[in-house]
Amino acid sequence: MEIETPTLIKSTPEGARDYLVPSRVHPGSFYALPQSPQIFKQLLMCSGYDRYFQLARCYRDEDLRADRQPEFTQIDMELSFVDVEDVLAVNEKLLKRLFKEICNFDIELPIQRMTWREAMDRFGSDKPDLRFGMELKNVSDVVKNCEFVVFKGALEQGGSVRGINAEGQGAMPRKKIDALVEFAKGFGAKGLAYLAINEDGTYKSSFAKFMTEDELKALVEAMGGKPGDLLLFAADKDKVVFDVLGNLRLEIAKQLGLLKKDDFKFLWVTEFPLFEYSEEQGRYVAMHHPFTMPMDEDLHLLDTDPGAVRAKAYDIVLNGTELGGGSVRIHQADIQAKMFELLGFTEEAAREQFGFLLDAFKYGVPPHAGLAYGLDRVIMLMVGADSIRDVIAFPKVKDASCLMSEAPAPVDAKQLEELQIAVTDEEKE
Ligand code: AMO
Ligand code: AMP
Repeated sequence: MEIETPTLIKSTPEGARDYLVPSRVHPGSFYALPQSPQIFKQLLMCSGYDRYFQLARCYRDEDLRADRQPEFTQIDMELSFVDVEDVLAVNEKLLKRLFKEICNFDIELPIQRMTWREAMDRFGSDKPDLRFGMELKNVSDVVKNCEFVVFKGALEQGGSVRGINAEGQGAMPRKKIDALVEFAKGFGAKGLAYLAINEDGTYKSSFAKFMTEDELKALVEAMGGKPGDLLLFAADKDKVVFDVLGNLRLEIAKQLGLLKKDDFKFLWVTEFPLFEYSEEQGRYVAMHHPFTMPMDEDLHLLDTDPGAVRAKAYDIVLNGTELGGGSVRIHQADIQAKMFELLGFTEEAAREQFGFLLDAFKYGVPPHAGLAYGLDRVIMLMVGADSIRDVIAFPKVKDASCLMSEAPAPVDAKQLEELQIAVTDEEKE
């Protein structure tokens, strides 16, 4: 059943900043534009509409990129009495039909699956591009006794040393390697250690002088290095290493022309962590949203090791882009209460923000799950565009403004007065 949900709502807990709309009738109060219909579709499940979909307009005030606009459209769905497998099965059929009818491309089912852990370890990304290899290798054990302070230091601080093998790129000129080092620094790397294996088996390297011949040999072997290859290493906290090498891998593939736009490599990424530790807030935050169900086998870890709990959450990834994501939702009051507690909500705060959902849950909740695609992203990949701006009529530019209509714009003093809003012009002051 297709059901429209409101777009003047109370804040949804989706993680980005809300766009706010002031209320004239209730001065000082604001609606939020929905970041997604998440709570409404869960309420529909509670009300007995056990199959819902909507082409939903969503709004998020976040930094824009090639695959992000402040307003975009989701293909949104929710299903009752289902678990992970049911949602994936429905969506594989949907994707197969869409890509057949629109692109005449045959998706081979079932779509490949990978846990979040495996995706990070092998590709340094939770949305790996599977059109090419160049996988990450963890060489921490191989270099743990070497004298290279960069490697040693990172390991001593609990980090790791990982590398990628850019096969056949051993003759890359110094200038181009330096550009890769700069690229890596853009993702938080302190540097990028490289080792080119010359055709005669000798090395050209930024760190070979700090290692013994045997250590180098073991390292090259661990990386599957052959004469003519270029090995690139990052040493840091895991998070930085993954980000640096995951992006470097994509950059090199782009430079080498390995990214064919008419090749569609789909992937389900599953078993996302339930929580993410926010250094900024000094607490755990929900990786997806606070209603995401922990995996049954990890429930016992909620109290002892929340960071290790995996969620019944999944993303559908195409060629390195997250097309969509979803999860099984919590339908048990005790697990939901635990979740709020771990996220640092007091009972009052949880009521204040989600009271209407918690009330509905009291009358009985079916087990339910769902998923939403970014429709604009799907179209972008279908037509091989580089940015979702290219597939949206009247898109916004990077600073979220519309160059044609010049929105956003100042409004009449009279309008503000009606809303009892005063604008303080800090810049002018
Ligand atoms: P999520 O936040 O992952 O999940 O969003 C779902 C999909 O929406 C697309 N998307 C965007 N597209 C363009 N511009 C943006 N700024 C933007 N932000 C997100 C992405 C993403 O995969 N309610 C949950 C879904 C669920 O659990 O059922 C949700 O919104 O393609
Ligand atoms: P340095 O001794 O600082 O000149 O570094 C030697 C080499 O290690 C250079 O190629 C640096 O780019 C590289 N390097 C420095 N920090 C890191 C790091 N955290 N990970 C990988 N390589 C690094």
